[in-house]
Amino acid sequence: EDPKLVEAFEARVAADEFIEPKDWMPEAYRRTLTRQISQHAHSEIVGMLPEGNWIGRAPSLRRKAILLAKVQDEGGHGLYLYCAAETLGTSREEMVEALHSGKAKYSTIFNYPTLTWADIGAIGWLVDGAAIMNQVPLQRTSYGPYARAMVRVCKEESFHQRQGYEIMIALANGTAEQKRMAQDALNRWWWPSLMMFGPPDDNSPNTAQSMRWRIKRETNDELRQKFVDISVPQAEFLGLTVPDPDLKWNADKDGYDFGAIDWDEFYAVVKGEGPVAKERMKARIDAWEDGAWVREAADAYEAKRQARKAA
Ligand code: 3HC
Repeated sequence: EDPKLVEAFEARVAADEFIEPKDWMPEAYRRTLTRQISQHAHSEIVGMLPEGNWIGRAPSLRRKAILLAKVQDEGGHGLYLYCAAETLGTSREEMVEALHSGKAKYSTIFNYPTLTWADIGAIGWLVDGAAIMNQVPLQRTSYGPYARAMVRVCKEESFHQRQGYEIMIALANGTAEQKRMAQDALNRWWWPSLMMFGPPDDNSPNTAQSMRWRIKRETNDELRQKFVDISVPQAEFLGLTVPDPDLKWNADKDGYDFGAIDWDEFYAVVKGEGPVAKERMKARIDAWEDGAWVREAADAYEAKRQARKAA
């Protein structure tokens, strides 16, 4: 690539300017953004499945309405993000095919099963809480369409986190059995939520370049630390115990020290060995194939509309 163009691009990024779809950009910038944004979109769409599993079994009409709204939001987040990724020149079909073939990733967190209603609380509180921690800085990512998509996503994510934490408050202040369910959900969702921030910075192939190009504004470990520091007091407020015996306040760093993450589990789940990974992919492929007729009908309708307009 022309070094002058690269230099001008890097100066724009360093000046915190937004890079727009029609601007010149290094091919590697385009590639890594297509990778990250499309996988972010896949995560949103696959993330609808574990929660969708509880819409028909919500304990009250109010909880059912809230969960319906949240799952619908996730679908919308996925569509914003696929649209943002398409501005980089990759079609929706190519991205969906990459997901279905296993070439593209989605967040490992969605390969864990939702065993009780308390999981819906823990997911809203911890998974959407982690997503907010990761997505707020992305409102300042250097690629314009991605940053703008994040503004609305973050607003809706706050509702997701709030409703989840409200479920945890209700359970933690309920019967002994309900409190036990809440603790069990915290035990199963705590560590996979920490994995959402990605591998440690010293083992993260993309972080250094993403920081230089201001795609990332904070590193995996920085965001993970912030998430732990904000979540531990929330668990204490619930009267629940974070399942980490090494967790302890470190006054020197003004944050919590915490135990080692099981990166073997992380990479096994990334590789698709998660407890329900096969079920998730089958559900996505079935939905895509069952919905083909809707896409064809919409295309045929649009073609007729265009033909009428041209006549
Ligand atoms: N699950 C699956 N794969 C993961 C992962 C996770 N939790 N964390 C990292 N990886 C993958 C990366 O994608 C990368 O593989 P690739 O090069 O094939 O894409 C590899 O592990 C090495 O990780 P890196 O740290 O080098 O990769 P990144 O610099 O891309 O950092 C990330 C990973 C922090 C997830 C970053 O991609 C990111 O911030 N993505 C945008 C946010 C996002 O995708 N969040 C996922 C959840 S969305 C969500 O929670 C929705 C909410 O509504 C519930």
